[in-house]
Amino acid sequence: LSLSVSSAATFVVNVTQSSYEAEENHSITLEWTFTTRTQGNWRELFIVCSLLAHRKGLVLYQSHDGVEIPESQHDQFSGRVQSDKDVLREGRIRLHVSRLRTEDSGLYLCDVKTEDGFNSGRCRLNITTAADQIQTQRPTLTPEPEELEWIIIIIFMGLIIAAALTPLLLCYLLVKYCLAREKDFYL
Ligand SMILES: *[C@@H]1O[C@H](CO)[C@@H](O)[C@H](O)[C@H]1NC(C)=O
Ligand SMILES: *[C@@H]1O[C@H](CO)[C@@H](O)[C@H](O)[C@H]1NC(C)=O
Ligand SMILES: *[C@@H]1O[C@H](CO)[C@@H](O)[C@H](O)[C@H]1NC(C)=O
Repeated sequence: LSLSVSSAATFVVNVTQSSYEAEENHSITLEWTFTTRTQGNWRELFIVCSLLAHRKGLVLYQSHDGVEIPESQHDQFSGRVQSDKDVLREGRIRLHVSRLRTEDSGLYLCDVKTEDGFNSGRCRLNITTAADQIQTQRPTLTPEPEELEWIIIIIFMGLIIAAALTPLLLCYLLVKYCLAREKDFYL
C-alpha cells in the first residue's frame, strides 16, 4: 500500500490548460505533461486519451512505447487527430484536433502509465457554433417591431393633443389681449 501511495505522489499528469474553447471547424492543440525521470528511455510508456461525453468514453489517441495504435481510435476522431511524437520524450502529450465538431465538446482524459507509476489528467473542451456567436453578439439597440408601434402611437397622440390645445391657447391669448386693450381704453 505504501508503495502505491508514494508512486501516486511522485508520478503526476498535469494539464497545461484546464479548459479550452474553440469554434466549430477550427482546430485546437490539447496538452498534457507527465513526470519523466529517464529522459525518454522508458521500459514502458502507455497512453490512452479519451473524450468523456454523454456517458461514453471515446478514444482519440492511444500509444504504447511511442507507437500509435490507430485501431483503438473512435470513428468520431478518424483522420482529425495528430500527435507530436517528438515531445513525448520530454514528458509532453500534444494532440492537435482539427475540423472540430460540436460533439467534440466534453471532458478529455489522458491516462499515462510508465514504470514510475500511473496517473491521469483532464481538461474540458467547449466547441461554440456560428449560432452561439450570433446569439451572444446580437445587438439590442434596434427596437423590436412591437416597440416601434408604441413609439408611433405615442408620437401620434402627442400631435393630437397639440392640435386640440392650439385653439384654446389662441383663445386665451386673444382674451388676454382684449382685456389689456380694454384696460388701456378706460385709463
Ligand atoms: C505538475 O504541476 C505541479 C504544480 O503546478 C508542478 O510542480 C509539477 O512540476 C508539474 N509536473 C509536471 C510533470 O508537469
Ligand atoms: C460553452 O460556450 C458557450 C458560448 O460561449 C457558453 O454559453 C457555454 O456556457 C459554454 N459551456 C460550458 C460547458 O462551458
Ligand atoms: C462548419 O462547417 C459546416 C459544413 O461545412 C457548416 O455548415 C457550418 O456552418 C460551419 N460552421 C462554422 C461555425 O463555420
